Formats: sequence, structure tokens, C-alpha cells
Amino acid sequence: SGYLLGVDIGGTKCALVLATINGELLRREVLNTNTSQPPMETLKQLAALARERFSPDHLTSLRAIGISCGGPLDSARGLVLSPPNLPGWDAVPVTRFFSNLFGVPAALQNDANAGALAEWRFGAGKGSRNMVFLTFGTGLGAGLILNGQLYSGTNDLAGELGHIRLADSGPLAFGKHGSFEGFCSGAGIRLLGQAAVREAWQHNQGPAWCRTEAELATLTTQQLAQHACAGDALALKVFAESGKRLGQGLSMVIDLLNPEYIVIGSVFARCESFIAPAAHAVIAREALPGAAAVCRVVPAALGEQIGDYAAVGVAQLALSSADKHAT
Ligand code: BGC
Ligand code: NA
Repeated sequence: SGYLLGVDIGGTKCALVLATINGELLRREVLNTNTSQPPMETLKQLAALARERFSPDHLTSLRAIGISCGGPLDSARGLVLSPPNLPGWDAVPVTRFFSNLFGVPAALQNDANAGALAEWRFGAGKGSRNMVFLTFGTGLGAGLILNGQLYSGTNDLAGELGHIRLADSGPLAFGKHGSFEGFCSGAGIRLLGQAAVREAWQHNQGPAWCRTEAELATLTTQQLAQHACAGDALALKVFAESGKRLGQGLSMVIDLLNPEYIVIGSVFARCESFIAPAAHAVIAREALPGAAAVCRVVPAALGEQIGDYAAVGVAQLALSSADKHAT
């Protein structure tokens, strides 16, 4: 018995989640953060918020704390290392801060690893032994569950597959044109859309919804999704191109890891019908048939709640590694 605290640290807001040790969510509090204030100030505000809003009974029966945050970070030492969305968070000892505050074990994982734990324990990959989770949000990161446990690599860089180059040209990400994240992320789809509109302009076939440089500059992935929903050919072509590249990348993942599930979140989960068919067509042609046959590629099941479950999943990890050390 007892409770878990999940802390989801984001660029504009942080969430505190109270859950049972089985991962049932009980309470949630959000702190809108100010990126110009020192990170320690934000951590102190989170501590105050927890003490103010969660009952003393819950807090005295806390068993473990899980923290989820964008990378890069050092999970062994519990340090956040200047993620792009958190300027000034350089070597911030978040694990020690929360562990000292409540006197219980704490663990830190990046958003992709934490999301993998969430979908594995509570979502689309429940009950599997080998599962890959892809964020497919603003960026592209992966979390790997192999042989029934999280695999994070030698220094937390396992699953950074957004960095892999799929083509010689294409949208820019990680300083490379044609990287996996350039094709398969919210930011990348926006770039693909802008390139497609420009090309259509050259043939005097620009879409009615984007006529000017100003409109092109402010085009969003969400707008592209709305046009795709309405059956717009150019928007559908953009999502299909992302899907084709996703199929290439997933074929490598399937051949390398032979997973049972590949669970994909955010943009993919919302736009599955525009992206998945092209991906499946490539997988059917390119992946090892025996490995493709056992691999289900599915959208994430937790939707907007994935961040809460992710932090709670990391708290469960903190609890089980503390138990392991105790025995
Ligand atoms: C980062 C990953 C992160 C992913 C999703 C990528 O750009 O390199 O660490 O997991 O975005 O946020
Ligand atoms: Na990862």
C-alpha cells in the first residue's frame, strides 16, 4: 500500500500527479512555469504546491517519486541536462531534490522512456515483453521495453531514433536534412507541408488555403491535419509522405528488435488514418516477413493522459529498483 508521486516537467507547465502504487490516478495539479526563473525556484514552487494541495495522509504514505522530462538527461545521477525546451536547466539535480523533500526513492527518465513505461503498463502495449514506443510529437524519440524491462542504453541515448538519417534530402532536424525526426514529427510534417505548397505554387497549383508567403510561414501541422480530414489532396500527400518514411524507419526497428508492439503517440495517434496506410505498405515490402508478421503497429491508447501515466510509470520504476536493492 501507499502512494506514488509523478512529476511531469514540461517547457511551459509542470504536472504533479498522485497515484496509488498500482498506478490509479487520484489527484493532479498543474503549475504554469516561467522559463526565465531559475530552475530551483520552479522546483520549490512544485514542492509547495504538493504540500498545499495533497493531503498530509497521502504525503506521509508516499513510497516513491517519478520524474519525466525532455532529454538530454542523466538518469543514473538524476540530472536534467539543458533540454531544448528548458533553457537554463543545466545539471539540475531533480531526483535528489524530490527524494530529499519527501524522504523516498525517486527516479528520472526522458519523455520517450517514460511514455514507453506508460503505454506498456497502462496502455496499448499492456502485457507485452518487447515493445517500442515512439513519441511522434513535436520531436521524435523512442522508448524501448526489451525482455520486460526498460532499456535506456549506456548513457541514456538508446531510442534517439529521430537522429537516424533516412534520406539525403528532406526536412531538417538534428542539423541533418532527411533525418527520421524531419519526416516523422509535428515539426517535420509542418516543414513537409511548406515544401509541398511551394512546389505546388511553382506549377500554379497552390491550394486555396495557402496563397501567400505570410500564410505559408504560419502554416501549422494542425491546419494540415484539418485539410487532410476534409480530403484535401495536397495535405493527404504530405501525411502519406511522412507515413512512407515512417514505414522505412519502422522496418529497421522491426528487423533490429523483433518487437511485439510498436506504439506511436501524439500526431500519429491523432492522424493515424492519413499516416498508417503508407507506413504499412512499406513495412509489408521491406521488413523481414517473419518479424513483421508478429509486430502490431498501433496508436498510443492514453491520449492526453500519457504524461501523467508516464511520470507514475517512472515512480513505479523507482519503487521496484529500491525494493530490489533492499533484498
Ligand atoms: C529528442 C528526444 C525526445 C524526443 C521527443 C527528440 O528531439 O532528441 O530525446 O524524446 O524529441 O520529445
Ligand atoms: Na529513449
